[in-house]
Amino acid sequence: MPTDLYQGMSDFYNAFVQRNRDYKAIATELIDLFGDQQDILDVGIGTGLLVEQIIQLRPELQITGVDTSASLLEQAQQCLGTQVDLHCQDVVDLHLDKMFDLAYSRGGAWAFVNDGNTILLASHILDLDAIQQSFERVAAHLRDEGRLIIISSNANHGKREELDGEVTFERTVSKDGIEGEQYLILDYRCHRNGGLVGHQRVRMRLLDLDRVEEMLVAVGLGSISDHHNKYHIYQKKGSE
Ligand SMILES: C[S@@+](CC[C@H](N)C(=O)[O-])C[C@H]1O[C@@H](n2cnc3c(N)ncnc32)[C@H](O)[C@@H]1O
Repeated sequence: MPTDLYQGMSDFYNAFVQRNRDYKAIATELIDLFGDQQDILDVGIGTGLLVEQIIQLRPELQITGVDTSASLLEQAQQCLGTQVDLHCQDVVDLHLDKMFDLAYSRGGAWAFVNDGNTILLASHILDLDAIQQSFERVAAHLRDEGRLIIISSNANHGKREELDGEVTFERTVSKDGIEGEQYLILDYRCHRNGGLVGHQRVRMRLLDLDRVEEMLVAVGLGSISDHHNKYHIYQKKGSE
């Protein structure tokens, strides 16, 4: 069973992110980029909030979701039923009996974040070789000319939300440098009537865009567009 990085916040994850994010707007923009592609892989589907919106707009799509969090996947299963194929897998060891036209990550295994004038990959996978392997695994599941979209997120900013006067959700963000490498430290906390009822710390490795794109090229995924830094799109080379 892969390590569940989100176990400590599964009870309050949806309430927090639903107040912070317009999943319908993201789904609308994203399906525009899908074109006529049918077999879609969500890398780090979480509780399925984005896919719920996608299938309302495009019910004919065949969507598969993978995630390392059994607790969030349980909620995805309740929300999406049998319409979406769900697997508790680490993308680093991805083995699915299927090929895809397109894979994407929206704040899943990886996201891009804007750090001043620099675009950085924020990766839940910390080890460099493992990140490389995760790219290789996704490329191996894409058909020729298939695409990988890594979506930009604002996960590197703090947030505080009062739900109903009793419950408060909060994300605090700090940066840490260890042996010359940069990490984002995200602390999610839920308070009820001033008392802490949930806390989850998530660490993400930060990598320069250029370095990430070299790693993607090494597995046959070349950049074709970045949609104003919002949707970074990579395409797998067709076989000669
Ligand atoms: C911030 S949540 C985003 C969930 C969802 N994509 C959304 O937009 O609400 C990050 C998700 O990525 C998953 N994740 C992190 N590392 C992963 C990995 N190596 N393989 C698969 N899923 C991973 C986490 O378990 C978590 O569900």
